[in-house]
Amino acid sequence: MTQRLAGKVAVVTGGAARGIGSAVSVRLAREGAKVVIADVDAEQGEALAARLVGDGHEAVFLPTDATDYAAVAAAVDLAVHQFGRLDVYHAHGIAPYKRDYLSNISAAEWDDGVQAVLGTAFYGVRAALPAMLENPGGSIILTSSAASFGSQRGTGIYSVAKSAVNTLAMCVANEYGIYNIRCNAIAPGITGPGAAMSVTRTAYPTLEEWTAQQPLNRLIEAREVADLVCFLASDESSAITGTTIPVDAGFGAGKADFHGRPQFGQPWTTRRAGHQGK
Ligand SMILES: NC(=O)c1ccc[n+]([C@@H]2O[C@H](COP(=O)([O-])OP(=O)(O)OC[C@H]3O[C@@H](n4cnc5c(N)ncnc54)[C@H](O)[C@@H]3O)[C@@H](O)[C@H]2O)c1
Repeated sequence: MTQRLAGKVAVVTGGAARGIGSAVSVRLAREGAKVVIADVDAEQGEALAARLVGDGHEAVFLPTDATDYAAVAAAVDLAVHQFGRLDVYHAHGIAPYKRDYLSNISAAEWDDGVQAVLGTAFYGVRAALPAMLENPGGSIILTSSAASFGSQRGTGIYSVAKSAVNTLAMCVANEYGIYNIRCNAIAPGITGPGAAMSVTRTAYPTLEEWTAQQPLNRLIEAREVADLVCFLASDESSAITGTTIPVDAGFGAGKADFHGRPQFGQPWTTRRAGHQGK
C-alpha cells in the first residue's frame, strides 16, 4: 500500500462486517488512516479492529446504530478525542426498509424506510461537519446506489431515498466547499458477497442471469468499491466534490439492454422480436 491517507482520521459507519463496509475500513487503515469503525455488529467490529491493530494499523471500534444521531455523533467525538481530528467520514451502513410495490407501503413504513436510507446519510453529514470545520477541510463519502439513477419495481423507498443522498452530496459540496470540505456519493451496482440475496429480490432468478446483463458480465468486488472510497478520501480527488460516482460494472451504461441482447461476438438478435438483425 502507498500510505496515501497517512495522518488522516476516518469514521466508517457500517464498516465492520461482510462486504463493502469492512473492505473500506481495511483499505483506509492500510493506506495509513486512523479508523473509527462504527457499526451495530459489535462482535465483527471488535474482531476487525483487533485484526487491524494486530497488523500494525490504528483502528478502534464503537458500537453505533447509524439511525441514532447521538450514536453517530459519539463516533465522531471518539475520532476527535482519540486521534485528534476528523478528515474522512464514510456514511455506509443503513437499516432495513420495506421492499414492496408503493400501494402496499404504509405511510409509517415509508417514513421509516426513508429515514433508514436518507436519515443515516444526513446524520453522518450533520455530525461530521462541525468536526471538519475545526481544522477546515475533509472528505465526506455517502454510499448511494446504482438504483439511485432510476427505479426498480418494489424498491421505491430505496431508489427515492438514495437519489436524495446524491442531492445531499451536492448540497454539502455547495455549502462547505469554501472550507475545503468535499462531499461525494458513490453508487455501487450489485456487489458481492451480499449480492445473491439482493438479486433474488429482482426479476432475475439467478445470479448468472443478473451478471449476464452487466456489461462487464460479473459482480463487483467489495475491494473495488473500497478503491473508489479510498480515492475520494485521498488528496488525489482534491478537485472532485458534489458528484455521484458509479462503480457498477457498467450497469448504468447497459441498462437499456435489460431485455436481453447478446454479447459482442454472438449473433445479433432482439429477444422480444425474435428476428435476426444485421
Ligand atoms: N451490496 C450491494 O450490492 C450494494 C449495492 C448498492 C449500494 N449498496 C449500499 O451499501 C451499503 C451497505 O450495504 P451492503 O448490503 O453492501 O452491506 P455491507 O456488507 O457493506 O455491510 C453493511 C454493514 O452495515 C452494518 N449495519 C447495518 N445496519 C446498521 C446500522 N443501523 N448502523 C450501523 N451499521 C449498520 C452491518 O453490520 C454491516 O457491517 C448500503 O448503504 C447499501 O445501500 C450496496
